[in-house]
Amino acid sequence: MATRVVDAEKIDLGAPAAERDIGRGLEHYFVESGVFRRVLAGETTVILGNRGAGKSAIFQMLARRSRAAGHKVIELSPDDYSYEMLAESMAKEKAGSWAKQGSYAAAWKYMLYVQVMKEICTKQFRSKNASEAAIRKYVRDHHHHPGMGKMWTLISYLKRLEGIKIGNIEGSLKMRELEKLYKVDELRPLLPHLREALKDQRVIVIIDELDKGWDASEDARAFISGLFQAAVALNQLSPNLRTYISLRQELYENTPTLYEDAQKYRDLVESVSWNEAGLQSLIARRIRHSLPRLADASDEECWSLLFNGSLSYRRSNSFTYMVDRTLHRPREMILFCAQALQQAGETGVALPLDYATIAAAESDYSHGRTHDVAAEQRFQYPDILSVFEVFRGRADTLDREDLEWLVMEILAGEVSVRPAARAWMEGYDEMALIEVLWRVGFLRAQTVGAVRAGRRSGSSYVAYHESPALDLRNVRRFQIHPMFRAHLGLKEARGSSTTGA
Ligand SMILES: Nc1ncnc2c1ncn2[C@@H]1O[C@H](COP(=O)(O)OP(=O)(O)O)[C@@H](O)[C@H]1O
Ligand SMILES: [Mg+2]
Repeated sequence: MATRVVDAEKIDLGAPAAERDIGRGLEHYFVESGVFRRVLAGETTVILGNRGAGKSAIFQMLARRSRAAGHKVIELSPDDYSYEMLAESMAKEKAGSWAKQGSYAAAWKYMLYVQVMKEICTKQFRSKNASEAAIRKYVRDHHHHPGMGKMWTLISYLKRLEGIKIGNIEGSLKMRELEKLYKVDELRPLLPHLREALKDQRVIVIIDELDKGWDASEDARAFISGLFQAAVALNQLSPNLRTYISLRQELYENTPTLYEDAQKYRDLVESVSWNEAGLQSLIARRIRHSLPRLADASDEECWSLLFNGSLSYRRSNSFTYMVDRTLHRPREMILFCAQALQQAGETGVALPLDYATIAAAESDYSHGRTHDVAAEQRFQYPDILSVFEVFRGRADTLDREDLEWLVMEILAGEVSVRPAARAWMEGYDEMALIEVLWRVGFLRAQTVGAVRAGRRSGSSYVAYHESPALDLRNVRRFQIHPMFRAHLGLKEARGSSTTGA
């Protein structure tokens, strides 16, 4: 590879969110994973993943590929669903004991079928096909509401259910009406036609970003659990109809109705996760896209054009150093690298970048990530940031006893945290709080012996996302995840380097 000086500004690593990245080159540098292939084939229809793990990237690519293949694509975006609006417009579960989840499932089914039927009607060449004609007639007679958003169909259906549940209709009539609505009876005569029409037309529905505006309310939970049920039902109609959903991992884990339901359909659900080699390849592809002359360069070669292979810092490897400061999510890797490039651009430092530039970028990166992680947890663990702050300026690794001691001080109120954090800690013992800090990625646990496959760093500490089944009771030593280190000014204990040379 010829060594030529490259200007940091020549390299564009793309946008950190797939919705914007798709216009910057995602199609060219997309990393196709097994999950993506199973999504494309319609086998996996529910994808789980943490923020920034690549859920939207999969859906953006799915939509592009499907359109290119002549399929119809319906995308629902967060503007379409507002949890606040739902909570305001729907009566509480207590009022009239109406089974919310079942109502939402029915409303979703209704709305999704209607969307699919509308989409089928937009075919350019009207076939003389009787099924399509029947669908077209139904849509024209019942769903001509110009200007109404997609969600309007769902809400009005919910309102119909609510009206009967809470209203004063008596006895058997009420039961019959309700049953009809729950079973989505209105559409029953149309389903055979729809199945027929789908024989030569594939339609996919993509529902992303359900966590946007998520407020953990009764309606929000029923909304998502109901959608899950509806999607499973819809996908049984025809192999040419696929409804895809993405969900944030912890939102899924913390919604019991959903989680239990999903256990029945485990073969449909997959998580997106990355190993270190995958993340290096992700960055390398972006570098190649900016510098086509690197087309044949290996991932390592691409990387070393940007960053000095070995850093002056404890003779560590630059890739290991950086990836070790992430929770293995593409967005973090892109942000950290882009921050370093920007830093270099501003200070006029030439590529490849050395430790000083990476370290300068790290303080902004670490600050941003600490706040992001806390924000991500705001419904479950509000103000967890104030708990992170307790560790400021301390050593980055702690023996179990020291950690328990510190955590006990927090629980006993000897160290102050914000009131909202106090509230969720109510009734916690030391272990419970340590468990929370581990789950959100703040703490890493020392493992003795087996180190997970796919790791390049010599670290003996693992994070929750790498080893979710780890039993913390056997862990002797903990480390605050290095991602937080710069922001919290943590002191590195001698010999605790996590970035083996
Ligand atoms: N498989 C992939 N190949 C290339 N880039 C990816 C891939 N998955 C994610 N990315 C990039 O990582 C960033 C975060 O991904 P995104 O899909 O927006 O995350 P999520 O929707 O899970 O929060 C975006 O810049 C996206 O383009
Ligand atoms: Mg997204």
